Amino acid sequence: MTVKNICCIGAGYVGGPTMAVIALKNPTIAVNVVDINPERIAAWQTDELPIYEPGLLDVVKEARGRNLFFSTNIEKGIREADIIFISVNTPTKTYGIGKGRAADLRFVELCARQIAEVSTSNKIVVEKSTLPVRTAQAINTILSETGSGVKFQVLSNPEFLAEGTAIKDLFAPDRVLIGGDQTPEGLEAIEALTSVYASWVPRERIIQTKLWSSELSKLTANAFLAQRISSINSISALCEATGADVDEVAYAIGTDTRIGSKFLKSSVGFGGSCFQKDILNLVYLCEFFGLPEVAAYWQQVIALNDYQKRRFAMNIIQTLFNTVSGKKIAMLGWAFKKDTNDTRESAAIYVSDYLLNDMAKVHVYDPQVPAKAMYADLDCLGTRNPEHNRELLTVVADPYEVCKDAHAITIITEWDEFKTYDWQRIYDNMMKPAFIFDGRNILDHKKLMDIGFKVKAIGKSY
Ligand code: NAD
Ligand code: UGA
Repeated sequence: MTVKNICCIGAGYVGGPTMAVIALKNPTIAVNVVDINPERIAAWQTDELPIYEPGLLDVVKEARGRNLFFSTNIEKGIREADIIFISVNTPTKTYGIGKGRAADLRFVELCARQIAEVSTSNKIVVEKSTLPVRTAQAINTILSETGSGVKFQVLSNPEFLAEGTAIKDLFAPDRVLIGGDQTPEGLEAIEALTSVYASWVPRERIIQTKLWSSELSKLTANAFLAQRISSINSISALCEATGADVDEVAYAIGTDTRIGSKFLKSSVGFGGSCFQKDILNLVYLCEFFGLPEVAAYWQQVIALNDYQKRRFAMNIIQTLFNTVSGKKIAMLGWAFKKDTNDTRESAAIYVSDYLLNDMAKVHVYDPQVPAKAMYADLDCLGTRNPEHNRELLTVVADPYEVCKDAHAITIITEWDEFKTYDWQRIYDNMMKPAFIFDGRNILDHKKLMDIGFKVKAIGKSY
């Protein structure tokens, strides 16, 4: 089968960049990215893209209008497509059965129903969203009940890109995973999707599996990555208690090729839209399938991450003489990692919430995150009313201004620009003693101490 037209439902952090790269690398395929959110679609049509991602604008500019299109006309997109990617959000359920753990699949189900309703020709439907194992069965059931004679093949093709490096990851993925039914029709569909990626990804990096293996591999990959961070973060607490240095321990163990050096950077805690949600989902699945010991094992990765964020905030309060009431605390960074404007589940939200509970005056600077997003994050927590959040949290556009007269500075995101600041100037304008709590261990601590700062850092005991 020759693929001529692709539709992607969902123009978010995954749908946008993934389709832009597919379009760039396959100039003969028309790629239509559709979404119910008209503002998002409008932004994709300008040079002010709705998401900040290094290198993305160049890719979009090259393909947009040539074979990459953004639209709110979902039905037209579906009707014209040979392959339809479902790339909508799958957040943790906030209601009913599985509340707080299971994935909320209502957006995925809506897509399946819409595809079933409007399709007039055979389609390959690709799960790009991260989904619980066996979701394809439900999608298949919805698609096979149309009575229209249209045939669908459901594939699983999870996305492994990380935010901040999405374009790099998409250009040279470690692997592309495609799962499908092992029937002649299923295998043909797998081959059709493989041909799209093979335009730029070496064939040996395109892994073809059964459907359930592919679905489960995505949750498992995220669980393993998050587990490494929680593992090293657990050791960071022991380092602080014993005088060992967590970065030295991470380096020492990471040089063992069986362990490897990646994802061993101790931090204030992992954030992002997926690690927590996907592990919660894994835990829920394990319980559903009667495996409580397995569920408890993975739950601990989340528990340790919550502990790390709480521990960091408590350390600030205790170090500042057991109260931060009325004290100005400068927070550098709000995004969940550098090079993104995404704040979902960022440690900043939880750390600032703890500090605000203790009546601190938190002043925040982030090079990419607008004030609106920060307040929305805090309001979502529901700890206090929106007016109170705006009273206690101040968003500042200048890093020197944010640190002026502060009792302490907290580093939450590892933005490179923080390393380039004139720290002597910042120190001179702070309250004394001047504290820095480096939640990312990105600054030169010795230099800061020479200036006069009192430095507290993850897994260090200065
Ligand atoms: P997102 O919230 O940024 O984007 C989802 C988009 O889908 C939104 O723009 C929303 O308006 C749209 N949408 C929802 N329902 C729709 C419908 N019925 N019709 C049309 N559009 C609809 O989410 P995201 O970060 O792109 O994540 C999407 C999926 O990819 C999730 O399952 C996530 O777990 C997975 N994933 C995300 C990342 C990441 O880095 N963000 C990486 C790998 C996998
Ligand atoms: C993660 C995975 O890395 C991707 O492979 C996956 O596709 C994606 O989730 C997803 O499914 O959404 P992402 O969350 O964008 O990507 O970013 P990561 O680089 O994984 O960082 C996640 C969090 O862990 C960040 O808060 C980061 O600062 C933190 N982190 C990461 C550490 O604290 N230490 C590390 O060593 C690495």
